[in-house]
Amino acid sequence: MTATPDAKPLKGLFIRTYGCQMNVYDSERIRDVLKPLGYAPVDAPEGADLVVINTCHIREKATEKVYSELGKLKQMKLASGGKMTIAVAGCVAQAEGAEIIRRQPAVDLVLGPQAYHKLPEMIARASRAVGDRLETEFDTVEKFDALPKTRDPDGPAAFVSVQEGCDKFCTFCVVPYTRGAEMSRNVDDIVLEIRDLAAKGVREVTLLGQNVNAFHGPAPRLEGGADWTLGQLVRHIAKIGGIERIRYTTSHPRDMDDDLIAAHGDTPAMMPFLHLPVQSGSDRILKAMNRGHTADEYRDIIARVRKARPDIAIASDFIVGFPGESDADFEATMQLVRDIGFAVAYSFKYSSRPGTPAAEMHGHLSEAVKDERLQALQALLRDQQTAFNEAQIGKTLPVLVTGKGRNPGQMHGRSPYLQALHFDGTDALLNTLVDVKITSASLNSVTGERVRAHEPTA
Ligand code: SAH
Ligand code: SF4
Ligand code: F3S
Repeated sequence: MTATPDAKPLKGLFIRTYGCQMNVYDSERIRDVLKPLGYAPVDAPEGADLVVINTCHIREKATEKVYSELGKLKQMKLASGGKMTIAVAGCVAQAEGAEIIRRQPAVDLVLGPQAYHKLPEMIARASRAVGDRLETEFDTVEKFDALPKTRDPDGPAAFVSVQEGCDKFCTFCVVPYTRGAEMSRNVDDIVLEIRDLAAKGVREVTLLGQNVNAFHGPAPRLEGGADWTLGQLVRHIAKIGGIERIRYTTSHPRDMDDDLIAAHGDTPAMMPFLHLPVQSGSDRILKAMNRGHTADEYRDIIARVRKARPDIAIASDFIVGFPGESDADFEATMQLVRDIGFAVAYSFKYSSRPGTPAAEMHGHLSEAVKDERLQALQALLRDQQTAFNEAQIGKTLPVLVTGKGRNPGQMHGRSPYLQALHFDGTDALLNTLVDVKITSASLNSVTGERVRAHEPTA
């Protein structure tokens, strides 16, 4: 870029993101909010004018990482002669608020997930050393209204937040407290954002929400009528020119309605991948977790989804060692995993979170028991993941090319099943869809050969 005489000097912005895709999306939007102020992203915190740590509170470990990172940033701030501004954003900011500044006085600003549109104003106040250094009000509608209407996508695949917050109150989880009540964006705004992304070359959108299938956003203004469901939204987005792939995450079993399931079968842009966390295979534990469904109800949902789209890849989340979990409860989880067969899954040891109902329950388990169960579960899940990847060998899959591969002459992309995929190809293929025949597979990726340019079926 060449500097014009009247261009504002660029200020270095470094954002470190922890936690879920919501935070990844929020970090991108923080970058958008700060761009008009002359902030441009830099690759390392050293020497940056503003460092934003976008935090996660979901497990104790995630929260601890924030404080060790802040300790390191304090040293860098000292080395910069105090020039660096440190902001803590995200779910730890929401949960701990001013406590963060008390524990690490080098922190200049603390802002919750609903407040990052206020960042420019907070930076101005901090530079004058006046006013509040803390913003943790919940006003999701105000946030979405205040965000810049256009975005600079990073590649051919983009996240779009459509729903935030959660009213489910699973007894182990901090999200209802850090992200606030469940709220859906209106359809017009979502469509505008996706049209803008499509015009900038985005081919794949992933609709984001803590419980994205609880989506109930106000219908388009010109159409009126009742709030739309996620199924309606997905079918509408599929008609936006340029958008060839739609994904959504994370969904909740209780909100898996018939129309959304049907869309997996009848909407070609719907990718054959469903992340549907189950947490446990024991009805007793599911009840104590307040999940609102049984293990058999989960099996039934998966059966119906597979009927609509037989090749769909099923992903899930698991918690082992929830308070009171017996050997038999854990075995029920293992049995559910054997029954379903997951393409990929994330599993965690239960982490007691202050303020949640489960933290007060009897029967907390030792780390040793949790470790043992996690290892057994992960061994089974790894076998299933490898088997799913190996089952693709010999098939030709459309791949959205998102970047260069690890080795020279290799490109990288995602299969419809969200597998990481490598194949020999050139930069010219970047951001396009190509057909790749899968030749080998491992736990974390598949490799193949390009067959020809992808020809859309429609
Ligand atoms: N809204 C999603 C999950 C959001 S949190 C859902 O309802 O499924 C992402 C994952 O973190 C959860 O699915 C759960 O497996 C895990 N998790 C949440 N709280 C946890 C805790 N206290 N200890 C361990 N894992 C937890
Ligand atoms: Fe947390 Fe449960 Fe809400 Fe998911 S549904 S965010 S696990 S409270
Ligand atoms: Fe973590 Fe907050 Fe996401 S607690 S998982 S960053 S909603």
